[in-house]
Amino acid sequence: MTASTSASASASPTAASPTEWWRSAVIYQVYIRSFRDADGDGIGDVAGIRERLPYLCALGVDALWITPWYPSPMADAGYDVADYRAIEPSFGTLASARSLITEAHALGMRVILDIVPNHTSDQHAWFQAALAAAPGSPERARYMFRAGRGADGAQPPNDWRSVFGGPAWTRVTEADGTPGEWYLHLFAPEQPDLDWEHPEVRAEFESILRFWFDLGVDGFRIDVAHGMIKDPALPDLGLDEEEILAPPASEDHPHWDLDGVHEIYRSWRAIADSYEPPRIFVAEAWTRNQERLARYLRADELHTAFNFDYLRAPWQAQQLRAVIEESIAAAASVDAPPTWVLSNHDVVRHVSRFARPQDGIPRHALTEIAALGAPDLELGTRRARAAALLMLALPGRAYVYQGEELGLPEVEDLPDAALQDPTWERSGHTERGRDGCRVPLPWRARPDDSTGFSIIPATAAPWLPQPDDWASWSEERQHDDPDSMLSLYRTALHIRRAHPVTDTSRLRWLEAPADVIAFERTPELACVVNFGADPVPLPDGAEVLLASAAGFTQDDPPTAIGPDEAIWFTPAGA
Ligand code: NOJ
Repeated sequence: MTASTSASASASPTAASPTEWWRSAVIYQVYIRSFRDADGDGIGDVAGIRERLPYLCALGVDALWITPWYPSPMADAGYDVADYRAIEPSFGTLASARSLITEAHALGMRVILDIVPNHTSDQHAWFQAALAAAPGSPERARYMFRAGRGADGAQPPNDWRSVFGGPAWTRVTEADGTPGEWYLHLFAPEQPDLDWEHPEVRAEFESILRFWFDLGVDGFRIDVAHGMIKDPALPDLGLDEEEILAPPASEDHPHWDLDGVHEIYRSWRAIADSYEPPRIFVAEAWTRNQERLARYLRADELHTAFNFDYLRAPWQAQQLRAVIEESIAAAASVDAPPTWVLSNHDVVRHVSRFARPQDGIPRHALTEIAALGAPDLELGTRRARAAALLMLALPGRAYVYQGEELGLPEVEDLPDAALQDPTWERSGHTERGRDGCRVPLPWRARPDDSTGFSIIPATAAPWLPQPDDWASWSEERQHDDPDSMLSLYRTALHIRRAHPVTDTSRLRWLEAPADVIAFERTPELACVVNFGADPVPLPDGAEVLLASAAGFTQDDPPTAIGPDEAIWFTPAGA
């Protein structure tokens, strides 16, 4: 590898304003049920997050994104919201949520919430009213109720499938006891889809945004941001099953990524911009390509979106480099920052994804990943350490999913009886679902004692069982170990902060062999990642700042980058 430079990834429009914190922030995803349990009931809560704020601040993240904390029957782990203006009692109270926001701000961290606008819980007052009302009533008009097909209406209105398996329609029983209309639910039957053509639906969500913005939250992650508008003709799709949260299977899909969603975000953006400081949005939008994703990021729409192409990319230099270049160019075309993410609560943790042979096919679901064979966790961990340095060196915004800083693997052998993801039941026990990445965090080094997850002696076991061998992954064990994943993330985040990127639309690539990725984040911070089987020498005069390989010290820096390793360095003469 030489240190000469190649072209930048794309032409540059505007440089990021320093006040636009969101362009280069590192955001930590708090999956509240599994983060930290303060009251010993085996379920994470608001007080648990508050207790860990100093930990997150010391880790060096800029903001938290908290997954839905609203009252919910938990048919889909909180993504079935019964009341958008309150806190789930098992998580805390509105007063404790307010305190959390104030305390996070005092530590210099922002707070982003999760809004779920595509569907409500079936226990939401609106849906309960719709069930009690008659076909054709104003109450039903807020949801997608339709007559069935066939002489007696016994067939669903079309062939759409629920993302969790089975039909996307459920038939209700009318007040007189007769089988009645069907309602649409792209997810579980307990998650009826709202009709976003209805003005009351739009007005209600704008009011919900203002409610939380007034409380001081800094922004929202938008759940299923690509799903709210449906083709009014509700045409058949001709598919057997929808993949669990994946890019749309066809170009003219009747319910994913329709152009009509953008009008909603223009009005949301105006609301966010009316606050001081302006609030921000991040889209969870599964689109066919980066160009379609960039449409959500136009100047009068959302600020950023998750980059699922990057998350799903296999551990291969050429493919990753292509995704990086494409992502930067697409984001730059609308003057948005690119974003990077390796894991979240819907996908197999990346230690376990990278622990398998990489055959070049993007994947994120457990069934398809487990089919690749047993995980080699040592290999997966080595790659995950390198992947952290790669992601955190890239320009733009990065997401850290709770537990990734501890190097947690997917728990692939949860007992059947413990599984709670609706996918397990809806798929007829063929898809184990997403519980394996949602196992409560091991804070203390005694997983057999539930204080591992809870602050006080617990009265109940964690809501999903922690594996017996998780002691070595605990925060307690890793805290003072300079070779731990936690130390690597902490150091990397602090170095990253000292090397801010103002123009996220540019990346200076360094010349490198085909199985190596090398680039400069800033003139003083370069990153090189070796995906090949042989060590690669460092450029002459490089001053190593950080290495993914355990055992790195400044006193005895490496001179080469080993297979599946990464190094941050200052190039000679910088
Ligand atoms: C995306 C969320 O990330 C996922 O957890 C949830 O099941 C679906 N949206 C439905 O709300």
